[in-house]
Amino acid sequence: MRKVSGRRELIRLYVGFFTDEKGHKECRNVPLVPENDPTVLFTTAGMHPLVPYLLGQKHPLGNRLVNVQKCIRTTDIDNVGDSTHLTFFEMLGNWSLGSYFKEEAIGSSFEFLTKVLEIPLERLSITCFAGDKDAPMDTEAARIWESLGIPKGRIVYLPKEDNWWGPAGKSGPCGPDTEMFYWVGPGPAPMVASAQDRGGWMEIWNDVFMQFNKSEDGVFTELAQKNVDTGMGVERTLATLEGKEVFETDAFLPIIAKVEELSGKKYGESESAKKAMRIICDHVKASVFMLAELVVPARIERGYVLRRLIRRAIRYGRELGISGRFAKEVAKSVFEVYPDYTHLSDNRDFILSELGAEEERFSEVIDQGIKYFERAKAEAVAGTIDGKTAFLLYQSFGFPIEMTEELAREAGIKVARDGYEREAARHQELSRTASAGVFKSGLADNSAETTRLHTATHLLHAALRKVLGPNVEQRGSNITPERLRFDFSWGEKMTPEQVAQVEGIVNENVAHALDVTREEMNPAQAKAAGAMGIFGEKYGERISIYTVHGPAGVASKEICSGPHVTNTRELGHFRIVKEEASSRGVRRIKAVLEK
Ligand code: ALA
Repeated sequence: MRKVSGRRELIRLYVGFFTDEKGHKECRNVPLVPENDPTVLFTTAGMHPLVPYLLGQKHPLGNRLVNVQKCIRTTDIDNVGDSTHLTFFEMLGNWSLGSYFKEEAIGSSFEFLTKVLEIPLERLSITCFAGDKDAPMDTEAARIWESLGIPKGRIVYLPKEDNWWGPAGKSGPCGPDTEMFYWVGPGPAPMVASAQDRGGWMEIWNDVFMQFNKSEDGVFTELAQKNVDTGMGVERTLATLEGKEVFETDAFLPIIAKVEELSGKKYGESESAKKAMRIICDHVKASVFMLAELVVPARIERGYVLRRLIRRAIRYGRELGISGRFAKEVAKSVFEVYPDYTHLSDNRDFILSELGAEEERFSEVIDQGIKYFERAKAEAVAGTIDGKTAFLLYQSFGFPIEMTEELAREAGIKVARDGYEREAARHQELSRTASAGVFKSGLADNSAETTRLHTATHLLHAALRKVLGPNVEQRGSNITPERLRFDFSWGEKMTPEQVAQVEGIVNENVAHALDVTREEMNPAQAKAAGAMGIFGEKYGERISIYTVHGPAGVASKEICSGPHVTNTRELGHFRIVKEEASSRGVRRIKAVLEK
């Protein structure tokens, strides 16, 4: 196996191979915050900035490209802590934009792996797409691998879950892929392909044959241009070449060393030390890269991901026995690993001060939060922490819900995630209305306009459930005197017909001049009465239920603190002005009331 001196040499070898020997041009390593791709929060692969060119537009550098791309994947933050998962990593990639296809892509992969990196053939195995209604079994890829010398017994066909890549967001280019695995298990590699022995085979490279475009409503269309999109993990390949694990390569060594120094523990001394150190190193590294692009800790979206990472790192710092503040010290070692990313050093002061401030905020409350969690755990009914308690842990102690869930998992109990979401949505509505009010007059905004929009929101919620089904749940709501904004769980764009139907139902309710009444009851009664809202609250608590009485039964019944109109005739004409994606699996409607 070739000896490489670290990540920079591996990158140089890869980019050099494709530029010097295969006629590729090197393209830009783009920011983590996507410049032109609204379907994802972060750049998760080198293909993101290439989407228009995969779809057929001409790229200024031609149709053969190569680069190294910094990436962040947030889908399995909670899996970071094992020996392979990372949130931040670097990906080597080469692309054919309608130039070469399977034969050359696989040929180049094989050549780079076995000739340049000198990885022994007997430690490689391959997976190919098994075929389904969208695309046939990829016998062509398998045949090419076989012709290059991979034994039939180490080539396996797997379904879409394994051997299909993309789209990265809801829509975009995608296709069947063929993946390359390296044997990291004990002893010689067995004569079975990777699927049968996942533990010992580590994926190092993926060649995607991007020949389809998936639309928002899930339809695959064959692209006129047959593309190749490949991705090879820098950290994993280094680990392969060095016979080590990812966290022992030069992409991590100085960071691990710093955590060892701060904690007085050794990386290999126990499984729990390993897990904590992996989490701290990965999460602080990813945080440094996010902060370098001026993402700051916040309650939503990218800032929320950043907050989760920093806070989880801090929690594991405690587990490791680090008593003081440590994030900034760890961050400094990240700069050492990546001298080539000059935007890190350019923003050094900002990165360190923001990181330090977030650590400070959380460090002040984490111990009390852990105590509160312990009490909640002891009091959990039927092994479940209720949504209100989980929300309190977030609101008062800054525990991201995912952290509470992780703590609960470790304790063998559950968290009522639905209840938490409802509580969060309700609170968001109250606090936003309240802060808008403080800005204007020091009082919550109970203007006639917002009151009408509150009632319209209930009717909208009920109409959405009628048209789209009971899977629709409120995810957020924000009301200004001009408009309502309503976020709800739904995976795809609503059709114009569905939008019109929803508007129609609301306007019918307005036309019928329906009475709106308010009652007080306890949560059990509210539940029994079929009200939508939050359950699992403490017994005895009084809550308000607003009911819109339809001509043939209840049009809407919802727990809410109001205020609401007393008759729907006060609303005027309801119109949806926008229906758009809010985040994965969540749609957002903006609507107005017209006199
Ligand atoms: N885009 C492909 C991946 O991330 C290459 O695996």
